Amino acid sequence: MSRKPAKKIKAEIPPNKEEATELKNKSANLHLLKGMKDILPSDQKYWDFIFDTVRNLGTDYSYSRIETPVMEQTNLFVRTVGKETDIVEKEVYTFTDKGGESVTLRPENTASVARAYNEHGFITFPQPVKVYYYGPFFRYSRPQSGRYRQFWQFGFEVLGEEHPVVDAQLVFLAHQFFKAIGLKVSIQINSIGCPSCRENFRQVLVDYFRSKKRNLCEDCKRRLTKNPLRLLDCKEAGCQEISQEAPQIVDYLCEECREHFVQVLEYLDSLEVAYTLNPYLVRGLDYYTRTTFEIWPEAEEISAQSSLGGGGRYDNLVESIGGRPTPAAGFACGVERIILRLKNKNVPVPQIPPPDVFLAQLGVSARKECLKLFEKFREKKIRVAEDFAKDGIKDQLSRASKQGVKLAIILGQKEILDGTVLIRDMEDGVQEVIDAQKIVPEVRKRLEKLKGEEKGDEEEKQDEGKVN
Ligand code: HAM
Repeated sequence: MSRKPAKKIKAEIPPNKEEATELKNKSANLHLLKGMKDILPSDQKYWDFIFDTVRNLGTDYSYSRIETPVMEQTNLFVRTVGKETDIVEKEVYTFTDKGGESVTLRPENTASVARAYNEHGFITFPQPVKVYYYGPFFRYSRPQSGRYRQFWQFGFEVLGEEHPVVDAQLVFLAHQFFKAIGLKVSIQINSIGCPSCRENFRQVLVDYFRSKKRNLCEDCKRRLTKNPLRLLDCKEAGCQEISQEAPQIVDYLCEECREHFVQVLEYLDSLEVAYTLNPYLVRGLDYYTRTTFEIWPEAEEISAQSSLGGGGRYDNLVESIGGRPTPAAGFACGVERIILRLKNKNVPVPQIPPPDVFLAQLGVSARKECLKLFEKFREKKIRVAEDFAKDGIKDQLSRASKQGVKLAIILGQKEILDGTVLIRDMEDGVQEVIDAQKIVPEVRKRLEKLKGEEKGDEEEKQDEGKVN
């Protein structure tokens, strides 16, 4: 069989300054959508830190991971989050798909989790069912710092149990998350009762606010008829002032709801968690019953986009979308807001460790040998960096030091002939010749030694800290 001569391929040359500007101009019309964010490699350490912490807590508290689609039937959110809420009224991305069905990009996940609970017969599992999730959500609101049109949440939900200890343990779990990542927060808590105690309260509230109608913002004037409870958590200064004197829902709770709330607080007290009773905390989603809570940055005035997380009990949600009566509770937190806070407060987060070793090569045979050596290291779980497309050793070693790699393996024509490799300590530049057959155990030995030295240095630093 005759082989066709290999086609000459022009090497990909990186653009020079003028070409780069031209390319940038050409793509000027293509840009990120407003309110959307790229999560760049330099930020991944924050995302890893948060999701690792969420997964660890999920395992510790026996939650299983659940993932639901980013798109659902529009009616799911209309019937749960509520037709008259800001989220459904103003913020959902809703469109008709090619099959003529109205679909919505999920603005939150509690409704989807409840749908999945019904659809997959979770009611037949031992109750309660405990799940956690993280993923992207979509709300078309005015973008600003901490408020995006695509944002990430993680959340924990407990379905099938009404005992107040569940609410308290969820609040505690949220508290433990923030403690684990090193952020100080304040827990705000309230009870908005069940539909029957809320009905009594609703009238009292409307009477109070109606008498102040002239001074309410336009949104609150509409809320008077559509969603009076939300008058209490308006962020407008004028409305907040009026709310100060408003009747408080805790004074209108029925006996069972009051007892439930008292017990939630007693469990929290026994866990020694600090919290603030906040009578204005009614939350912006219609499905809540009884306990509501939010996590705010510590010692700060709340603004519309500063709440780091929120949740509560939603005893009627599962039934409202066709399931059996299923009491439930949960919370979710906004990842971007948490990361902003970590950065503002300079909270140290674990760094993604540099690769263990860099493979540098000179010449075609060495490059081929290095491709194989890379796999050998990878199989032995030694993390390798490389820049196989480069020819110059100097360039390759400079890349190795930029990546913070401690050891480099150098392979050239001479080493191939001798069956050796050079091993270079990147800190002091000392190079040694090693038998190529022994390279993997030798690298492992040196890495362990380096790790031991680093640990010793760390302990010494800590001891010095103690003495000072
Ligand atoms: P939520 O209060 O609407 O509750 O959202 C929870 C958190 O998501 C907020 O505290 C905030 O940190 C973040 N968040 C919300 N909207 C945005 C946005 N536009 N940009 C950035 N971050 C945002 C819920 O979603 C409920 N599903 C929580 C829940 C779970 N209740 C019971 N279980």
